[in-house]
Amino acid sequence: MLKISEFNHNLLGWYQSNKRALPWRETKDPYRIWLSEVMLQQTQVVTVIPYYEKFITRYPDIDSLADADEEALLKDWEGLGYYNRIRNFQAAVREVKEKYGSVVPDQPETFFKLKGVGPYIGGAVQSIAFNHLLAAVDGNVLRVISRLDSDSRDMTKASVQKDIKHRIEEIIPLEAGDFNQALMELGATICTPRAPKCIMCPVQENCEAYKENIVTELPIKKKAKRKNELYYNVYFILNDQNEILLKKQEGSLLQGMYELPKYDVDTSIESVGEELGVDIEVSGEHIGSSKHVFTHQVWYMEGYVLHTRSRHRDFIKLNEVQKLPMSRAMQKLYSLFQAENA
Ligand code: ADE
Ligand code: SF4
Repeated sequence: MLKISEFNHNLLGWYQSNKRALPWRETKDPYRIWLSEVMLQQTQVVTVIPYYEKFITRYPDIDSLADADEEALLKDWEGLGYYNRIRNFQAAVREVKEKYGSVVPDQPETFFKLKGVGPYIGGAVQSIAFNHLLAAVDGNVLRVISRLDSDSRDMTKASVQKDIKHRIEEIIPLEAGDFNQALMELGATICTPRAPKCIMCPVQENCEAYKENIVTELPIKKKAKRKNELYYNVYFILNDQNEILLKKQEGSLLQGMYELPKYDVDTSIESVGEELGVDIEVSGEHIGSSKHVFTHQVWYMEGYVLHTRSRHRDFIKLNEVQKLPMSRAMQKLYSLFQAENA
């Protein structure tokens, strides 16, 4: 990358006149910026906007989020996925309330110690809210830099990502927050994965890949390991009290979420009944299938209805189910069941 000052000037100038009006760009409140970055880390801007607005209305500041009921928070997060994000965020916000008088630390060393704060969140929040000279490297930024530098290293490697972070920190200007957001914005709107709009690019003159005409060959991402394919039967266990059995998840990524019981397809109905403490009386009716793709796994699920006369504390009134937080994977199946029983 040549002529850094010119590059920074062109990029920042372009960002000032072309940045999208996004709700978290209208605030200087570090709590709100932090919340937005937690949401944006694994979710696209268009999906995040309504969730961000809802959270800002319901949890406008550190204290309201710290004091929120975890189940209500998970319900409000429902559909965004990666639920450990909001559980970690609440833990971190509670620590800010208790240890730092509800003031978000503006010292990177302190902020980085909070739960869920890694290089990306830490760099993004500390640069956008406090202009600390830290990079915030996400997928967009990796793509943009790999093209600008004509860098053909494997962008999925942690060592390469770390190196790129350092390289950005060598050239980052005092307007660090805008600079980071400008790189993200360039990646989201101009330097897109397919068919980048190099013609409209403010830093085309600084772009090595453009000069070499290899833009579409970058970034290099070594093929991700094939996802693990898992096959499950998912059970809608109904009793004669208009109740359905749901399991609240413990100690997993879905901790705190309510899920329909699911078992490996090889598990017999008898052992399912035994494990859940119910006597299955009628079984079989097929509800439908659903597929859900996670980062490292794909779940293939078949839904079946089972009937029982058993009742215990895991049974929940059917008309209460929608009030509980449930993952999108389960919700897709549950809506098939509702359609059949409408
Ligand atoms: N993606 C991650 N952080 C972002 C931000 N602050 N603005 C737009 N997109 C983003
Ligand atoms: Fe990306 Fe093209 Fe701009 Fe290079 S010239 S940074 S490849 S949009």
